[in-house]
Amino acid sequence: MACKLFKLPRRQWLLLLLVALVLWGLLIVNINIGIVSNHDSGRLKNEVIRLSERYIRALARDNDGVVDGPYAGRFTAYDLKKTMAVLLENILERLDYIEHHLNISSNMTTLAQPARDGAVNKSNPVLAKDLIKGEEDRCVLSDKERQLYPHCQGKIEWMKAMWESDPCYKSFGVDGSICSFIMYLSEVEGWCPRSAWHGYNSVPTEKADHTNKANISTDLEGLMKLLVDPNERQGYAWIRMRIKRIWPRWEAAVTSLSQKQDLRGRRQKKILVHLGLLSKQSGWKFAEMQFKGGPLGELVQWSDLITALYVLGHQLTITSEAEQLSSVVSQLPAANSPCQSRKELPVDIIYIDIMGLKQFKKSVGNGFGKFSCLLRIVDSFGTEPAFNLHSFAKQRKKLTSWGGNDLHPQQFFTMFPHSPDNSFMGFVVERHLNESNVRDIKRTNSALVYGKNAYMWEGKTSYLDTVNKSGILIHGTVYSEDNKPLKLPAYVENHGLLNGEELHKLLRQSKIFLGLGFPYEGPAPLEAIAYGAVYINPKFSTSHNRNTNPFFKGKPTERELWSQHPYAEQFIGEPHVYTINIEDEEAVRTTVQKILDLDKFEGFLPYEFTEEGFIQRMNSYIEHQNFCQFQRQLAKWPPESSVKLLFGEAEKSCKDVCWEKNLICEPSHFLEANAHHSLMQKGAACAANKTLTDIFYPALDTKTNDCIIQQEELLFSCVGKQDNLRRLCPCRNYIKGQTALCVGCE
Ligand SMILES: *[C@@H]1O[C@H](CO)[C@@H](O)[C@H](O)[C@H]1NC(C)=O
Ligand SMILES: *[C@@H]1O[C@H](CO)[C@@H](O)[C@H](O)[C@H]1NC(C)=O
Ligand SMILES: *[C@@H]1O[C@H](CO)[C@@H](O)[C@H](O)[C@H]1NC(C)=O
Ligand SMILES: *[C@@H]1O[C@H](CO)[C@@H](O)[C@H](O)[C@H]1NC(C)=O
Ligand SMILES: *[C@@H]1O[C@H](CO)[C@@H](O)[C@H](O)[C@H]1NC(C)=O
Ligand SMILES: *[C@@H]1O[C@H](CO)[C@@H](O)[C@H](O)[C@H]1NC(C)=O
Ligand SMILES: *[C@@H]1O[C@H](CO)[C@@H](O)[C@H](O)[C@H]1NC(C)=O
Repeated sequence: MACKLFKLPRRQWLLLLLVALVLWGLLIVNINIGIVSNHDSGRLKNEVIRLSERYIRALARDNDGVVDGPYAGRFTAYDLKKTMAVLLENILERLDYIEHHLNISSNMTTLAQPARDGAVNKSNPVLAKDLIKGEEDRCVLSDKERQLYPHCQGKIEWMKAMWESDPCYKSFGVDGSICSFIMYLSEVEGWCPRSAWHGYNSVPTEKADHTNKANISTDLEGLMKLLVDPNERQGYAWIRMRIKRIWPRWEAAVTSLSQKQDLRGRRQKKILVHLGLLSKQSGWKFAEMQFKGGPLGELVQWSDLITALYVLGHQLTITSEAEQLSSVVSQLPAANSPCQSRKELPVDIIYIDIMGLKQFKKSVGNGFGKFSCLLRIVDSFGTEPAFNLHSFAKQRKKLTSWGGNDLHPQQFFTMFPHSPDNSFMGFVVERHLNESNVRDIKRTNSALVYGKNAYMWEGKTSYLDTVNKSGILIHGTVYSEDNKPLKLPAYVENHGLLNGEELHKLLRQSKIFLGLGFPYEGPAPLEAIAYGAVYINPKFSTSHNRNTNPFFKGKPTERELWSQHPYAEQFIGEPHVYTINIEDEEAVRTTVQKILDLDKFEGFLPYEFTEEGFIQRMNSYIEHQNFCQFQRQLAKWPPESSVKLLFGEAEKSCKDVCWEKNLICEPSHFLEANAHHSLMQKGAACAANKTLTDIFYPALDTKTNDCIIQQEELLFSCVGKQDNLRRLCPCRNYIKGQTALCVGCE
């Protein structure tokens, strides 16, 4: 213990010195007490006691205020506190002793009792003499606490074996005792409840006056200053252009949103945005390829994300190179230490992609656990729970370079609402034409084919012939490399690659936007529908997935596509979208006829793909989502009132079970469903109660009537399904056109 005291701040040294002096003084008085006269002893006694009491009171006050709980003060001095307690008790004992003797010799009364209860009890429930004998505080988890903090026990076991693996644990006051583990795990890492060590139970609240408020910002210049590439690789050039182009709409959107909902009083968050895809290390040459027909879906998403964060008034740091990231990260305190203090981190949220995540892990090293709950992964295709949990994915041979990150599945943000296990970020559907442009363009009997590469047209000739026979002029925008002749049907009027404005004019003229089956789920059909064209969405006779289709190979998702654009099929539908088998000539003919018979072609854009919808959704995520255990006390979001538990039919995933009732699977409420009694409440007989580790649970096995609950929280999955299992599903309502949010959850 003594050696640890060397690290104490000066103030504490002074206090200790004082204590020592008092002790020494008392000792002398003790020895000499017999030889002083009664008269002297009375005076002396009063003097000593008066002084001692003053010291003790001062000490007790100090002890109380400064070192109240091992991690609450400005420094952590749990050992010092123990030492103080011992010394205090020692002094009190001595005072009693002297008093007793003096009582006898001088028969003086009215001696104030030192404030023993107040000082000693409150700061440490264990008596000093017990401490000296080696007793420890007893810290126990109740059953309820165990349930609420399922990782606590495991972390304690880990600490038992590993607390000496890094000096940082000792610096946090961990001394090998169970109590010190629990204190550390509750106060620093947030895995355990404070109540288990009688820590103060009041929830620490943010001091409102000390935190900056986020104000809406519409200053484009300010944002452009953040998007400067230090290496002059022009990495942000495309993003800057998109932002500038759409800026007037962004401005109007945030103003309009602030009139619909109160955006004042939000805390300004410090947000780090790292675009790993633009880095040199990625090897993807995204920065170089952005104006040469490179894939832009991700850049669209990043542009919109950055803009939304900015107009919402948050404090942004934007990086795109690994070195930049390292230099930002190295400024974070103890980034390389495994002690996962996740309080008062200098960043609140980190948006990153999978490429960037690899760089990030490298730069923070052991400190990764400290930041992992702050991460938001921009991951257009999504990552399902089965691929996310490293141990599980490895065991099932599903580990790919994309998965196995052991994050919370909702920390992955997708391009479209895929599996509700992930969060839907989306993007903004750009409209190059303004109202007056649109009005001036006449709609004609024409169709535009969705497919800018010739290979996408292969094998689709009879489908196009059928459409042509309906007397429609078919346009194409197929790109020809080096002006090589293209093998397109002769009746197709090909325009080559068009810029955004030209393309949108063509869409505005067309009645039909013809899907060919590939590319999957892109933004183009949404643009077409926004300009009033009707989208023919090819239906697949067998699903396209990672086992059947090279495009999905290696992607961390079992997602099965049954049409080219599931979002258009499910969330938009007729009369804007017809999902048909394009090999069925009759179906194609009647559908085309149906569309040509329409007398109105009204544009439609789901709110969630507008600037305003995007800002609203991101704002809700920022304000309510939290994946850090220590913030669990925050109000549950989405609230329980928007969620109900549904007991599905066998063989159905929760995604489907909820969707059939016009609800959306809500993974953040699986915990409530995950109990045997919840299954019994839904009428399951429960021949046996089991707890297993797989993506299908909680569920009832219809063959054995076993009730099975989930062992591993990270495997809660909306998409898991199996033949003989009836799943118990948390389903929530949603706002039409803003599916990520429940009704009243903006
Ligand atoms: C000394 O005497 C007073 C009054 O008689 C009493 O309250 C106090 O407890 C005595 N102290 C000790 C240590 O016996
Ligand atoms: C102490 O004082 C009380 C009166 O206050 C007296 O009765 C008692 O005898 C005294 N005791 C001694 C040891 O002087
Ligand atoms: C202080 O501890 C004692 C026994 O250790 C107990 O009787 C007393 O009630 C405690 N006081 C407070 C304020 O907790
Ligand atoms: C937001 O506006 C308020 C009042 O105008 C101001 O006090 C505050 O500093 C602003 N916050 C930020 C982050 O600029
Ligand atoms: C619409 O855009 C055109 C240019 O394409 C511009 O001349 C016109 O002023 C715009 N109209 C409105 C209402 O913004
Ligand atoms: C396409 O349509 C035109 C006019 O409707 C027709 O003359 C032509 O034969 C058609 N071509 C094919 C390949 O069906
Ligand atoms: C299963 O658990 C429920 C709730 O805890 C209990 O009521 C029931 O008796 C258990 N069934 C069996 C077979 O153990």
